[in-house]
Amino acid sequence: MKLTLTSLVVGCALCLSISSLAQSAKITSNPATGYGQHLYAQSCAVCHDAHSTTPKAGPGMKNYYSTHHPPPTDTTVRAIIAKGKGTMPGFSNLNQKQMNDLIAYLKTL
Ligand code: HEC
Repeated sequence: MKLTLTSLVVGCALCLSISSLAQSAKITSNPATGYGQHLYAQSCAVCHDAHSTTPKAGPGMKNYYSTHHPPPTDTTVRAIIAKGKGTMPGFSNLNQKQMNDLIAYLKTL
Protein backbone atom coordinates (compact mmCIF):
# COMPACT_ATOMS: atom_id res chain seq x y z
CA MET A 1 0.00 0.00 0.00
CA LYS A 2 2.79 2.35 0.95
CA LEU A 3 4.55 1.56 -2.30
CA THR A 4 1.42 2.18 -4.33
CA LEU A 5 0.88 5.52 -2.66
CA THR A 6 4.47 6.54 -3.25
CA SER A 7 4.38 5.65 -6.91
CA LEU A 8 1.09 7.48 -7.20
CA VAL A 9 2.63 10.61 -5.73
CA VAL A 10 5.73 10.31 -7.90
CA GLY A 11 3.59 9.63 -10.94
CA CYS A 12 1.47 12.65 -10.23
CA ALA A 13 4.43 14.96 -9.73
CA LEU A 14 5.86 13.70 -12.98
CA CYS A 15 2.67 14.26 -14.90
CA LEU A 16 2.27 17.72 -13.42
CA SER A 17 5.76 18.72 -14.42
CA ILE A 18 5.20 17.37 -17.93
CA SER A 19 1.99 19.32 -18.36
CA SER A 20 3.55 22.53 -17.07
CA LEU A 21 6.46 21.99 -19.42
CA ALA A 22 4.06 21.52 -22.30
CA GLN A 23 2.23 24.67 -21.31
CA SER A 24 5.34 26.83 -21.10
CA ALA A 25 6.44 25.46 -24.47
CA LYS A 26 3.12 26.56 -25.92
CA ILE A 27 3.44 30.05 -24.47
CA THR A 28 7.04 30.52 -25.63
CA SER A 29 6.16 29.32 -29.12
CA ASN A 30 4.01 32.40 -29.57
CA PRO A 31 4.75 34.87 -26.80
CA ALA A 32 3.54 38.01 -28.58
CA THR A 33 0.01 36.89 -29.36
CA GLY A 34 -0.24 35.09 -26.02
CA TYR A 35 0.47 38.28 -24.11
CA GLY A 36 -1.58 40.31 -26.58
CA GLN A 37 -4.53 38.03 -25.95
CA HIS A 38 -4.12 38.53 -22.23
CA LEU A 39 -4.09 42.32 -22.65
CA TYR A 40 -7.07 42.16 -24.95
CA ALA A 41 -9.05 40.10 -22.46
CA GLN A 42 -8.15 42.58 -19.76
CA SER A 43 -8.72 45.88 -21.59
CA CYS A 44 -10.68 45.41 -24.79
CA ALA A 45 -12.97 42.38 -24.55
CA VAL A 46 -15.62 44.26 -22.55
CA CYS A 47 -16.35 46.35 -25.63
CA HIS A 48 -15.01 44.24 -28.51
CA ASP A 49 -16.02 40.62 -29.10
CA ALA A 50 -12.93 38.74 -30.34
CA HIS A 51 -14.93 35.88 -31.83
CA SER A 52 -17.50 37.64 -33.97
CA THR A 53 -18.27 40.95 -35.66
CA THR A 54 -21.29 41.39 -33.42
CA PRO A 55 -21.00 44.80 -31.78
CA LYS A 56 -20.86 45.22 -28.03
CA ALA A 57 -20.06 48.83 -27.05
CA GLY A 58 -17.60 48.75 -29.96
CA PRO A 59 -17.46 46.64 -33.15
CA GLY A 60 -16.61 42.92 -32.95
CA MET A 61 -12.97 42.36 -33.89
CA LYS A 62 -13.22 39.02 -35.67
CA ASN A 63 -11.53 39.34 -39.10
CA TYR A 64 -10.82 43.02 -38.37
CA TYR A 65 -7.76 43.00 -40.62
CA SER A 66 -9.06 40.77 -43.39
CA THR A 67 -12.36 42.63 -43.83
CA HIS A 68 -10.79 46.07 -44.22
CA HIS A 69 -9.54 46.95 -47.70
CA PRO A 70 -6.89 48.12 -47.54
CA PRO A 71 -6.20 46.65 -44.10
CA PRO A 72 -5.58 49.27 -41.41
CA THR A 73 -1.94 50.14 -40.88
CA ASP A 74 -0.26 49.53 -37.56
CA THR A 75 0.11 53.29 -37.21
CA THR A 76 -3.65 53.79 -37.53
CA VAL A 77 -4.54 51.03 -35.09
CA ARG A 78 -1.85 52.19 -32.68
CA ALA A 79 -3.30 55.71 -32.77
CA ILE A 80 -6.86 54.44 -32.17
CA ILE A 81 -5.72 52.37 -29.20
CA ALA A 82 -3.56 55.11 -27.73
CA LYS A 83 -5.98 58.02 -28.20
CA GLY A 84 -9.34 56.28 -28.38
CA LYS A 85 -12.03 56.91 -30.98
CA GLY A 86 -15.56 58.21 -30.48
CA THR A 87 -16.71 56.76 -27.18
CA MET A 88 -13.68 54.44 -26.96
CA PRO A 89 -11.26 55.56 -24.27
CA GLY A 90 -7.56 55.90 -25.12
CA PHE A 91 -5.01 53.49 -23.64
CA SER A 92 -2.01 55.78 -23.45
CA ASN A 93 -0.73 53.75 -20.50
CA LEU A 94 0.30 50.85 -22.75
CA ASN A 95 4.01 50.63 -23.50
CA GLN A 96 5.51 49.88 -26.91
CA LYS A 97 5.75 46.13 -26.33
CA GLN A 98 2.19 45.88 -25.02
CA MET A 99 0.96 47.81 -28.03
CA ASN A 100 2.89 45.56 -30.46
CA ASP A 101 1.65 42.39 -28.80
CA LEU A 102 -1.91 43.66 -28.82
CA ILE A 103 -1.71 44.45 -32.54
CA ALA A 104 -0.10 41.06 -33.24
CA TYR A 105 -3.04 39.44 -31.47
CA LEU A 106 -5.64 41.53 -33.34
CA LYS A 107 -4.12 40.24 -36.60
CA THR A 108 -4.83 36.65 -35.59
CA LEU A 109 -8.56 37.25 -35.13
C1 HEC B 1 -15.46 51.27 -23.37
C2 HEC B 1 -15.54 50.48 -24.58
C3 HEC B 1 -14.27 50.22 -25.36
C4 HEC B 1 -13.07 49.69 -24.92
C5 HEC B 1 -12.70 49.28 -23.50
C6 HEC B 1 -12.23 49.54 -26.09
N1 HEC B 1 -12.89 49.99 -27.20
FE1 HEC B 1 -12.16 49.98 -29.10
N2 HEC B 1 -13.85 50.95 -29.74
C7 HEC B 1 -14.96 51.25 -28.96
C8 HEC B 1 -15.94 51.95 -29.78
C9 HEC B 1 -17.29 52.46 -29.31
C10 HEC B 1 -15.38 52.04 -31.07
C11 HEC B 1 -15.98 52.72 -32.31
C12 HEC B 1 -15.55 54.15 -32.33
C13 HEC B 1 -16.07 54.93 -33.51
O1 HEC B 1 -15.93 54.45 -34.66
O2 HEC B 1 -16.64 55.99 -33.27
C14 HEC B 1 -14.06 51.40 -31.01
C15 HEC B 1 -13.21 51.28 -32.10
C16 HEC B 1 -12.05 50.53 -32.10
C17 HEC B 1 -11.23 50.29 -33.26
C18 HEC B 1 -11.50 50.82 -34.65
C19 HEC B 1 -12.56 50.00 -35.32
C20 HEC B 1 -12.83 50.48 -36.73
O3 HEC B 1 -14.00 50.63 -37.04
O4 HEC B 1 -11.90 50.70 -37.49
C21 HEC B 1 -10.19 49.51 -32.85
C22 HEC B 1 -9.06 48.96 -33.71
C23 HEC B 1 -10.36 49.28 -31.44
N3 HEC B 1 -11.49 49.93 -31.02
C24 HEC B 1 -9.50 48.53 -30.69
C25 HEC B 1 -9.57 48.44 -29.30
C26 HEC B 1 -8.59 47.79 -28.48
C27 HEC B 1 -7.37 47.06 -29.03
C28 HEC B 1 -8.97 47.94 -27.19
C29 HEC B 1 -8.25 47.50 -25.94
C30 HEC B 1 -6.93 48.07 -25.72
C31 HEC B 1 -10.23 48.67 -27.19
N4 HEC B 1 -10.55 48.97 -28.49
C32 HEC B 1 -10.97 49.00 -26.07
C33 HEC B 1 -15.11 50.96 -27.63
C34 HEC B 1 -14.14 50.42 -26.79
